[in-house]
Amino acid sequence: MFKRLSTVFRVLRTGWVLARHDALVPSEYAKDVPLPVRLLGALSRLFAIGGRASNPGERFAGALEKLGPAYIKFGQILSTRADMLDPVFVKGLSRLKDKVPAFPMEKAEAMLEAEWGEAWQNRLSSLSEPIAAASVAQVHKGVLKTGETVAVKILRPNIQKCMRNDMDVLHMVASLAEFFVPDSRRLGPKKFVETADRAVMLELDLRLEAAACSELSEPAVETGLYEVPHIYWDLGGKNVMVTQWIDGTALSDEAILALPQSQRTDIARRIMQSFLACSFDYGVFHADMHEGNMIIGDDGTLVLIDFGILGRLSEEEQRFHAEILYGFLIRDYHRIAEVHFEAGYVPAHHSVEDFASALRSVGEPIFGQTAENVAMTKVLLQLFEITEIFDMEMQPQLIMLQKTMMQTEGVCRRLDPHFDMWEISRPIVEASMRRELGIEGRINDLVSGLHKARRTLERLPDATENIAALAKAWADGDVDLSRGAAPIADASTAKKGPWKPLAYIGTGAALALGSLWASGQF
Ligand SMILES: Nc1ncnc2c1ncn2[C@@H]1O[C@H](COP(=O)(O)OP(=O)(O)O)[C@@H](O)[C@H]1O
Ligand SMILES: [Mg+2]
Repeated sequence: MFKRLSTVFRVLRTGWVLARHDALVPSEYAKDVPLPVRLLGALSRLFAIGGRASNPGERFAGALEKLGPAYIKFGQILSTRADMLDPVFVKGLSRLKDKVPAFPMEKAEAMLEAEWGEAWQNRLSSLSEPIAAASVAQVHKGVLKTGETVAVKILRPNIQKCMRNDMDVLHMVASLAEFFVPDSRRLGPKKFVETADRAVMLELDLRLEAAACSELSEPAVETGLYEVPHIYWDLGGKNVMVTQWIDGTALSDEAILALPQSQRTDIARRIMQSFLACSFDYGVFHADMHEGNMIIGDDGTLVLIDFGILGRLSEEEQRFHAEILYGFLIRDYHRIAEVHFEAGYVPAHHSVEDFASALRSVGEPIFGQTAENVAMTKVLLQLFEITEIFDMEMQPQLIMLQKTMMQTEGVCRRLDPHFDMWEISRPIVEASMRRELGIEGRINDLVSGLHKARRTLERLPDATENIAALAKAWADGDVDLSRGAAPIADASTAKKGPWKPLAYIGTGAALALGSLWASGQF
């Protein structure tokens, strides 16, 4: 009861902060909401502070920054949903900053002691002041007793409790929105908050981030395109993560732009190719590819850090996306359309040809264009529009992939204004398709075909009985295929004839067809 009351109190505070930023019912959207909500919006604007940004998304972002970490995370997740929100709003929201003041050194030391069960001085010979602070954690530079330099990431004290409280508020706000603004139900605010809640809570356990880093080390070694820091598992825990310190320059550093163009072009290539290789060949990708999370080591290697958000694709999704990109590369829009239908992403009642021609309208204008001439955001928005027309259900993982691909492309484009997304992605996508369609793919198909065949065989006894009965009746001349006739004549009236061998051929053919179907060739 008390908890609920305090949540209500927090909801009111949230409403107040939003009102101060004219973000409760932004004036731009007032005409789209029911009258009582519109009146509430008008009333709230009386309390709005002056000097507000003209973009409603920016005002909303300002309010979220004021409200705290969970709201900031929520806003960041919201800003990835260009498919369901006003693009202008999303653009403003994407300015959301994740910078908050660092927590004091004594608190950081206390967190380390709580995690390690002893004074930090027993494990580290030095620990710097915080070098970076964000809404969930901050990072210090430390030196181990053995002399290695490390990055020590420490969660904010009490962050779990604080996030929980804020998330409870967001759940309540979502319920209120669904109740008072029926139109908002189309966007599924309650479901969205649930998704955000899960994502945020995952970020509050640094062991999971360490595991994500370790997962991305396998493709790193195999592709040789990038590296990840070494993890010191024995020093890690829920609230602390210790990794190898990377000496180098973050891509967010202006110094990167002073590098020779050829070097920047090469960095851009490695960034995009490593992202594509991870997602299409390994089904796992770093889903927060902004410049602050990439360091060019002093030896020139590209090092990824910060594994709070990991994207995953099932084998089917990997193949689906690789095929789509490949389709765009070879400009086979019909094939891309078919892939969408085969995967069940577009309902079967739509026409493949219409869908293919809609895709052509997206693909043709951008084919062979370099980054300078293509606004990928526009392209994606056009794709989202198409998905709406064709009732396509967007899968959250694919949205995440597309959003990250866009983010990654933005980074590459800044490094190399002539960045050619198509030429850079071609080798990775083609290799992936060769693997899918080549020997390896055939073996995979065979294996999954065999699984399907086994399932079919398990159902086969009944089916064979029917087929054998049908074949026998046919051989006995009891099958009348003329319209309106019952296919099998009454067995008691069945004649014996010279057609027996056909019964076996018939059964064999049916079985052969069955197994072809089972292996997916039908
Ligand atoms: N292993 C590392 N080596 C060097 N610098 C690091 C390392 N890990 C983190 N940092 C620095 O700390 C900053 C914040 O770390 P990050 O893991 O990105 O946390 P956040 O989730 O708060 O963004 C990075 O932008 C980088 O400057
Ligand atoms: Mg970061």
